[in-house]
Amino acid sequence: MQRDPRIGHDEGDLTLTALRTEVAHTHPSRLPIRAFPTRGVHSVIAGIGTYAPERVLTNADLEKIVDTSDGWITERTGMKERHIAQAGTASWELGVHAGERALADAGVAPEEVDLVMVASSAPDAPFPSMACRVQEQLGLTNAWAFDLLAACTGLLYELQIADVMIAAGRARTVLVIGAEVLSRLLDWTDRSTCVLLGDAAGALVVRAAEHGGGFRSWSLGADGREWDLLRFGERAQTGAYAAGDPNPHFIMRGPETFKFAVECFTRSGQAALDAAGVTVDQLDLFVPHQANRRIIEAAARRAGIPEQKVFINIERYGNTSTATVPLALYDAREQGRLKPGMKVLMSTFASGLTWASTVMEWE
Ligand code: ACO
Repeated sequence: MQRDPRIGHDEGDLTLTALRTEVAHTHPSRLPIRAFPTRGVHSVIAGIGTYAPERVLTNADLEKIVDTSDGWITERTGMKERHIAQAGTASWELGVHAGERALADAGVAPEEVDLVMVASSAPDAPFPSMACRVQEQLGLTNAWAFDLLAACTGLLYELQIADVMIAAGRARTVLVIGAEVLSRLLDWTDRSTCVLLGDAAGALVVRAAEHGGGFRSWSLGADGREWDLLRFGERAQTGAYAAGDPNPHFIMRGPETFKFAVECFTRSGQAALDAAGVTVDQLDLFVPHQANRRIIEAAARRAGIPEQKVFINIERYGNTSTATVPLALYDAREQGRLKPGMKVLMSTFASGLTWASTVMEWE
């Protein structure tokens, strides 16, 4: 580990030997899956906004960058194209565009927002928070603001916080954002990762239900024993900043992540359905985190959810981490597949490890 040479370290200093350095690889079926029904005032998604940078990178474009093919990417992931931000673009800038559109969609004025959260796998800096930049840009003068790090699960973690804040009467209107410039985390010579991610942002306005809809249950979890499955930087034991890693990039154990993801969707999704008292037959739409078409299809098959109830738009955006669920909800609504009264299951899994599922009656 590199140390700052200006700082002396004595015997009592925290060293890596004091930390557990081995990784305890767990079997996915031992993931601690829990779920609970919601109580109190129900909240709903009252507005959706999305934004993707103009530049589109197709599989054919990737063939010119690394040793890959449209056939391999399509067959193994379902992805056809993804959007890539211009160099120097901040994640929070994408979040501002999506947030503005979500507020307009909900018919909410900026000063009505009580809390804004931004989740990201590609935060711009330790501080100020991306949420504060969004708060300032959108004129959310009455909102408090903070960022949330839980990789791709960040968006559902945020939604759960919004749901609790509204149920407890501490907020009336919450703006939830997932904003990602993931392209800058990638090693563009590594074909096993650079084809997978894209840049985009999604935003959701959460408010109290008015017509009987709302979140019905949550299944939330984390398992830090598998911290090295998806990580940023080779020297990730202490984190890229602490390790002084000059050029960290996204690293993944793909096949193991695949197994974890299927297990997570299946078990956490089923737990959320059980807690909501909703059967698979009663479910109208499954909106999963879009990381790989094959993961989604395998999980849906295992859970007994028929193809026509599963929403996939991964071909257009690739994996946009915290933005995938809002992008999918938006497209599902545009295509007439998301209507009031429908019972919707949303599920995510991510680095950490983290995961979340929720059942909601759309309003
Ligand atoms: N083009 C062509 N060949 C490739 C590519 C590529 N882009 N990438 C890998 N390969 C090759 C490998 O080198 C390997 O070749 P070999 O057999 O000669 O060694 C072969 O394809 C198979 O590689 P696997 O990694 O076993 O391929 P797999 O079928 O598992 O698919 C994938 C890889 C798509 C990454 C899959 O494992 C997966 O989707 N995993 C989960 C991904 C995921 O959910 N990630 C979440 C990240 S979210 C976040 O943290 C922001």
